[in-house]
Amino acid sequence: MMPKASPSRHIPKPKLLSPQSWHPDSWRDKPVAQQPDWPDEDALRQTCKSLSELPPLVFAGESRNLLDQLASVSRGEAFLLQAGDCAESFDALTADQIRDKLRVILQMSVVLTYSAGMPVVKVGRIAGQFAKPRSSPTETVDEVELPSFRGHMVNDPDFTSSSRVARAERLLTAYHQSSSTLNLLRAFTKGGFADLHRVHAWNQEFVASSPLGQRYEQVANGIDAALAFMQACGVSSASEPKLHMVDLYTSHEALILEYEEALTRVDSLSGNWYDCSAHMLWVGERTRQTDGAHLEFLRGVHNPLACKLGPSATPADALGICEVLNPDRIPGRLTLISRMGAAKVEDVLPPLVEAVRDGGHPVVWACDPMHGNTFTSDTGRKTRHFDDICTEINSFFKVHRALGTHPGGIHLELTGENVTECLGGSSNFAHSDLENRYETMCDPRLNATQSLDLAFRVAELLQAR
Ligand code: PEP
Ligand code: CO
Repeated sequence: MMPKASPSRHIPKPKLLSPQSWHPDSWRDKPVAQQPDWPDEDALRQTCKSLSELPPLVFAGESRNLLDQLASVSRGEAFLLQAGDCAESFDALTADQIRDKLRVILQMSVVLTYSAGMPVVKVGRIAGQFAKPRSSPTETVDEVELPSFRGHMVNDPDFTSSSRVARAERLLTAYHQSSSTLNLLRAFTKGGFADLHRVHAWNQEFVASSPLGQRYEQVANGIDAALAFMQACGVSSASEPKLHMVDLYTSHEALILEYEEALTRVDSLSGNWYDCSAHMLWVGERTRQTDGAHLEFLRGVHNPLACKLGPSATPADALGICEVLNPDRIPGRLTLISRMGAAKVEDVLPPLVEAVRDGGHPVVWACDPMHGNTFTSDTGRKTRHFDDICTEINSFFKVHRALGTHPGGIHLELTGENVTECLGGSSNFAHSDLENRYETMCDPRLNATQSLDLAFRVAELLQAR
């Protein structure tokens, strides 16, 4: 991660984001979707007060660096890899799972960079991804109806009435877990784990002997040869920090607005508001109403933002979102993440891309091939098929190629562990395999092998450009 704030560089002048007044709490005057019922309002108020007195999790200068990198994606000069858990868990805070998730993101990123010759901007769904929108506010099992599980920031997934109560103190736990996760990520990304000389080591605990592992080894050998050449020319890790450190930025869905408000601070360098809970925040398919509370909150913070667009989104919706979140058309400020479903993307995406392009909005277009392709397996598990995921990405590239726009990135749900939650891939998981290691608290994730497999396929699409 990054603290290389250079105060003289890219510090925007304080300016009003919109002629209408904005404050971190102005969202409270708007309709707010997908919020829990907090039974203890005093506890919520007290918790938010405590949160607002705690240090920020990220520094505004880091968000500005990410904005610069996303601006290069919007110009077609780089590719965005945004990936991580569907929902992080309070019960899974271990160094190993953080390391494994980082490692798979690094491996995917070297495959994309090496094969496609394009810088990869790395953003985790990590260190704050604890709140989930739900299709129904309640869940009924055997005629017992309870509030839905909304992520560990809110309640617990066990199907008991006590577990499902929304407890405000969970907001503080989310903050502290984000802080520990971020601390270790900063150590790994800056302290040597991400050194390009370790590309082989990342593969070792992995599948070095499998066909996919061998394909990765070829990339790693190529990188070794390039590093040896550069060393002979006098460029080494010691002289070039980029060889042994990476920038990994954090992101999550800005869903629980009390939490986001409490971590929103004025940056002392620029005088602008930043939501310091993560570098980048996104708004989900269910909370993207232009007159709703979530857009009202996000329009006022200067972080890079993203918005999901599902198959019901119209060109007018997309333009409305661009006008609210990025009226000044700042490159890198807004990423639109399409999540249409493999069968629909070629029909529904083109009019949106055309409208945004013709409206002069310099967005990053990213493809989330996960959320439009979820179904229930023969064994009753929520799952996704690797082939549908590839098909949606293929179609996304095809649409952008036809319109002359940049297919700027992918947005994935994955884990570094060898779970069996998605079907297919190089291990060709069948419905019955899902029972082996199905661990997600929410949506099915690609495992490490499936993720690397996907990276090779996306690299081929990028090469074909
Ligand atoms: C998610 O990204 O986990 C999610 C719920 O996505 P969407 O808002 O696109 O449904
Ligand atoms: Co999800």
